[in-house]
Amino acid sequence: MKLRTAPLLAALAFPLLAQAPTEPTPQKPQRAVLVTGASTGIGRKTTEVLAQNGFFVYATARKDDDLKALAALPNVQALRLDVTKQDQIDAAVKTVQEGGRGLFALINNAGVAVLAPLIEVSERDLAFQMDANVYGPYRMTKAFAPLLIESKGRVLTTGSISGIVTWPMGGPYTMSKHAVEAFTDTLAAELQPFGVQVSVVEPGNYRSEIMANMKERLVQGGYGGAGSRYQKQLDRLLTQPMHREQYREPDDVAAAYLSALEDATPKRRYMVVPDQREAELTIRAAIARVVQLNAEQAFAYDRDALVKLLDEELRKQQ
Ligand SMILES: NC(=O)c1ccc[n+]([C@@H]2O[C@H](COP(=O)([O-])OP(=O)(O)OC[C@H]3O[C@@H](n4cnc5c(N)ncnc54)[C@H](OP(=O)(O)O)[C@@H]3O)[C@@H](O)[C@H]2O)c1
Repeated sequence: MKLRTAPLLAALAFPLLAQAPTEPTPQKPQRAVLVTGASTGIGRKTTEVLAQNGFFVYATARKDDDLKALAALPNVQALRLDVTKQDQIDAAVKTVQEGGRGLFALINNAGVAVLAPLIEVSERDLAFQMDANVYGPYRMTKAFAPLLIESKGRVLTTGSISGIVTWPMGGPYTMSKHAVEAFTDTLAAELQPFGVQVSVVEPGNYRSEIMANMKERLVQGGYGGAGSRYQKQLDRLLTQPMHREQYREPDDVAAAYLSALEDATPKRRYMVVPDQREAELTIRAAIARVVQLNAEQAFAYDRDALVKLLDEELRKQQ
């Protein structure tokens, strides 16, 4: 008896609600994002976070097993893509066009690390470094520009604090990440008239496979062997935990990507570091460069003028 009266009472108590025509709730259109290098590390984590937060992700990878794993995620379409292969890039553009969702953002994340002394690194390995980390974002951005301009979308690239700091043995990698800084700023100015916003996400050290891949290349290239002037430094590099177990998962980096996509006015730079030490060494390196640039040149600023310039830049952020 109780069971039968309950729906009737509800209908009497809320007659308007009960009779209201059922209007469909407006759905926010699911915006599409393409992530390169989504098999592991930062790319994989970013794919998961974006797909869980209302985005449709074209997650790209190179190996069959990785493509299979990505395809199993909800709101994800896996695409085969090597950023050094123009035919695969062209095929990805076609797939995205045919997908009919447009493209709101391109995330240039794929990257490799070549760590070797600059006076010993082979030209082949330096080219390999630049091909993935610099020419990769350039090729991808050029190919997807029409779709991004159409959506007034965003281009985001995984830079690094190595775009600001440098260290011995890190020459090839830091050169590539410094190039990403210039790529970002120039592209931002060039795409601004078309309503496309450009940012760089600059992580510090997080867990990923990048060092394991780097080590393989270092060993294959014969670096640090007989005749090297840098045996000690290279030995030290090779004995580091290669899967970076000492570092945190890149959740904060993925969160920065989510902000960069959701912020109405995205920041140009999203530095994401795991601790104060990495923040300090990066900011200090940027300041040191300003001080060195200013020193003893014909139009040098004095201390007060430098502080005034700093204050003006700080005000622009408010
Ligand atoms: N982890 C950190 O601490 C850190 C810090 C600062 C910046 N970053 C940057 O973060 C990005 C992602 O690296 P990660 O640390 O997450 O390392 P990771 O786990 O090694 O991931 C690198 C990704 O890039 C892909 N990749 C490499 N070369 C490629 C190519 N030619 N075409 C397409 N994909 C390619 C890899 O694919 P495969 O699996 O097929 O090799 C993998 O999916 C890189 O740009 C890296 O420089 C990382």
